[in-house]
Amino acid sequence: MNGYRCIACAETQVADFSGLVCPSCGGNLDITYDYAAIANKVAEGFGDGPTDLFRYAPLLPVTETDTPFPLRVGGTPLYAAPRLGESLGLRNLYLKDDTVNPSASTKDRAGAVTLRRAIDIGAEVVSVASTGNAGSSLACLAAALGMRAVVFVPEDAPVAKLTQSLSFGATVFAVRGTYDDAFDLCLAASDEFGWFNRSTGYNPFTREGKKTCAYEIWESLGGRVPDRIIVPTGDGNLLSGMWKGWRDLREVGLVDRVPKIDCVQSDASAAICLAVRRIRDSGQSELDWSKVVVEAVRADTIADSISVDQPRDGLAAVRGILESGGETVMVPDEEILAAIPEMARTTGIFAEPAAAAPWAAVKQLVHDGKIDADELVVCLVSGSGLKDTANAQKTVGSPLSIDPTIEAIKNAGE
Ligand SMILES: Cc1ncc(COP(=O)(O)O)c(C=O)c1O
Ligand SMILES: [Zn+2]
Repeated sequence: MNGYRCIACAETQVADFSGLVCPSCGGNLDITYDYAAIANKVAEGFGDGPTDLFRYAPLLPVTETDTPFPLRVGGTPLYAAPRLGESLGLRNLYLKDDTVNPSASTKDRAGAVTLRRAIDIGAEVVSVASTGNAGSSLACLAAALGMRAVVFVPEDAPVAKLTQSLSFGATVFAVRGTYDDAFDLCLAASDEFGWFNRSTGYNPFTREGKKTCAYEIWESLGGRVPDRIIVPTGDGNLLSGMWKGWRDLREVGLVDRVPKIDCVQSDASAAICLAVRRIRDSGQSELDWSKVVVEAVRADTIADSISVDQPRDGLAAVRGILESGGETVMVPDEEILAAIPEMARTTGIFAEPAAAAPWAAVKQLVHDGKIDADELVVCLVSGSGLKDTANAQKTVGSPLSIDPTIEAIKNAGE
């Protein structure tokens, strides 16, 4: 890494800048690299390094070390999903299964890189505001490293995510309010107590962790570039990370084109989709990013991980969608819920609501004639269904309750 650039006003900072956001305008920062130097190191790809995301160390903003990370973050499988794809006539559908990360979500990518950063700068306590997954991820990885984690979540976060965080020994504050309230409190508390704030979007190192998902997809496809990747979106950091990953690969000369990055949100929490549509409708081609505003909404979706009023990495996400030519897809909650068993029954992958949203988006895009049958489409499955069984249960009902007899099975229709 060789510095930072503000996503809004483009002001740059040197590599040893100690803040997390732009000192001039408060905008989010993007970490910059000396791509020419890195290109020499990765001209042949990433070699036979470790199987976790630290195999991409030349493109990560962490001090190189021989000490392996204690848990395996990243290195997750990309599965072909022929039966799921066939149901819509798609011949090249893939699922990136990030449910197999240590705390069972993509958030571990951000957690691993931000914790390594915390170690690099000597921070002892790391804080985070979370809808649930970033918190349980930080708690998990901090436990493995012997560090202290402080987690701020809205009090209605799914119980599994809270239980994970508590089991890992984090201090968990269940804030009587929304995720946005938890975010603001985490910011104020981190300033007050000197904690390293890993909150999504606000901390530029989170995007650097998430971008490794793009590198892995590229490697798993043997160097092919997908036509589109569908990313479930709340704060927009996962999406901006995915976009950054593909831009990095292009900058170091490993790919010559990049995929469309499609954004899926619940139609009840769609600040980023709406911002992109407003810009496209306005017909502006040259945008002054310091003037672009992502307006807040009143989020109210069952997909808790993507339930966000004010996206905290909204500008970077809007840029990623516009610059990659991605679609904006707003899906109703019923479609998100229906997608959970559809994916589970044809692929064996159990997704939490947010992570099933990309499949709901594929259905909508095919219905609208926006995906060709031969396109190479990747859905990011960003979190495990075990994190929110209450919502999954709404679509699959209860088991058949029977007496312990063969007769009872026959009576049940077998
Ligand atoms: C499972 C899952 N999917 C998607 C997202 C959305 O990521 P972002 O908030 O960066 O847009 C999250 C964020 O918490 C998540 O936990
Ligand atoms: Zn700025």
